[in-house]
Amino acid sequence: MTIKNKKVLIIIGGGIAAYKSLDLIRILRKNDVEIKTILTKSGKEFVTPLSLSTLTKSKTFENIFDSDAEAGIDHIALSRWADIILVMPTTANFMSKLSIGKAEDLATTVLLAADKDIILVPAMNVRMWLHKATQSNLKTLQDYGYLFIGPEKGEMACGEFGEGKMSSPRQIFAYLKNYFDQRNIVKERNLKALVTAGPTREYIDPIRYISNESSGKQGYEIAIALNKLGIKTTLITGPSKLVSPKDIKIKKIISADEMFKEVKNTLPVDLAVCTAAVTDLKPAKINKNKIKKSELSFKSINFIKNNDILDFLSKNNKNRPQIVAGFSAETKDVIKNSILKMKSKNCDLIFANDVSKKEIGFNSDFNKVSVIDKKGNIKIIQKNKKSFVANKIAQILLDKLIDDRNIN
Ligand SMILES: Cc1cc2nc3c(=O)[nH]c(=O)nc-3n(C[C@H](O)[C@H](O)[C@H](O)COP(=O)(O)O)c2cc1C
Repeated sequence: MTIKNKKVLIIIGGGIAAYKSLDLIRILRKNDVEIKTILTKSGKEFVTPLSLSTLTKSKTFENIFDSDAEAGIDHIALSRWADIILVMPTTANFMSKLSIGKAEDLATTVLLAADKDIILVPAMNVRMWLHKATQSNLKTLQDYGYLFIGPEKGEMACGEFGEGKMSSPRQIFAYLKNYFDQRNIVKERNLKALVTAGPTREYIDPIRYISNESSGKQGYEIAIALNKLGIKTTLITGPSKLVSPKDIKIKKIISADEMFKEVKNTLPVDLAVCTAAVTDLKPAKINKNKIKKSELSFKSINFIKNNDILDFLSKNNKNRPQIVAGFSAETKDVIKNSILKMKSKNCDLIFANDVSKKEIGFNSDFNKVSVIDKKGNIKIIQKNKKSFVANKIAQILLDKLIDDRNIN
């Protein structure tokens, strides 16, 4: 069991579901997980430090200005100690505080200083959950990279019914177990990925080129998200104004030919994600000198097709990645054209996006993606920041990498 001996820091907020944290602690302890807890001031109204300490066999942390605690394990050390941090229940108030980066007590300060994944487990009345303010905080927190379990739909402590019920301790345990199992598989199998991003530039002469509107944002975010899951990722990028992500191997190219070459050099990998908008055509030859304006006409330039990188990766029998996924930027019949593309290229997944819509198009910070698999299943990732979409995509790809291997 990969969850064995893991260290979980649980922050308990001031909601009626706080008592369920005691159940989760018991399940985790039975599975030999080490636990430390932080109780917020309101959380203390619902569970006692004594119950928590008895079950965790460890001190319950409450106060940031506790000289004993600061001398032993301070607010920075607490997050460094943990393998993962869980906030359960996460109240509406707590979400609001996190979304504006408050560091007003031990819990919020530890979270702001954390270098580990943080999982929020919301629990609140349905109206509180659906309130525009909470939904806006949710989007902000997702954008900051917080992970979420639930909330579920169901009957609440207040007697009302709807979304806002906290996931059960069993569900939370299953999530944590899967989280550690997956990271262990990534490490054991030494999983590697390549991601292509950005446009390519096809020079006509030293100063003129053809290219496209791609910014590279979605591809960069996918590379960052895969890397965060522990997958060793190489980002092969065309000219982009974006800052190079840290901790990721990055290969910068200009033309489609260079991208093709770098892709081949990066193989073998387990996963290839082609987000680059490779320019379809290139001039048959690049003029060494600037072509005189009087000599320049479309007829004078002979265009030929570039290599199809997605097609090459999917049909490459020798070094085919276990999963080849492509993006399909369409302006009409988005789903139909994307399915055709997936079939003709023989890739495993296609991410369809409608680039005719400015708010989710090439240069936007937002995207909305339909994830289509070979069986024709379609899953929609609703409009959100490209970083959020990338985290969803990375998780889908990791699930598929692991599931396909288990079935085959
Ligand atoms: C009996 C009772 C139950 C509560 N349950 C919840 C709840 O389930 N979810 C929630 O968001 N707030 C709930 N609240 C309100 C919170 O306790 C309050 O917003 C508090 O400031 C949250 O503290 P925290 O930010 O430390 O979690 C409840 C309050 C009371 C008095």
